[in-house]
Amino acid sequence: MSKNIILIGFMGVGKGSVAREVIKNSDYIAIDTDDLIESMENRKIKKIFEEEGETYFRDLEKKVSLWLKSSVKNTLISTGGGFYKQKNLKDIGVVVLLDSPFESIIKRIKKHPNAVRKLKKRPLLSDLKKAKELYDERRPEYLKLADIVIDVTNKSALDCTKELFKKVKKYG
Ligand code: S3P
Repeated sequence: MSKNIILIGFMGVGKGSVAREVIKNSDYIAIDTDDLIESMENRKIKKIFEEEGETYFRDLEKKVSLWLKSSVKNTLISTGGGFYKQKNLKDIGVVVLLDSPFESIIKRIKKHPNAVRKLKKRPLLSDLKKAKELYDERRPEYLKLADIVIDVTNKSALDCTKELFKKVKKYG
């Protein structure tokens, strides 16, 4: 596998956890679009949303997507939940959707030892009713875009990663 692998999916679905298992179990290096943006800006996503608004954040995602396209190879790229809207995502690599029902995602976040922090750092999860609407709007778009779909519900990150390795093989 020499292509980039791009993890997409809703907030809290476990993209970071899968990325960490991929690193542990392969030679891949992983990068995260939110981490790149936070270091570019030297402030947290929550602060960027508060101080500049969502449009500014999406422009930064665009900048990151252009850089990924021109400069990044052989890398596992985990993305923020809205990054999939960037044009020509498939030009960056194989798009892998981590999929799970909304209720399971929220349950997963709430049972995490850092649940409060996990909810707080995500501005678009502050209102669960609105978050569910966003999920319903995005899920068909995620599915349409994905080359590979992994249902992560009630599976360990390691099991999801094994499934990912098996499925990406055919993309050589
Ligand atoms: C967002 C998801 C977040 C982060 C930002 C916006 C979204 O990333 O990029 O808060 O639009 O879904 P995670 O998916 O890692 O929570």
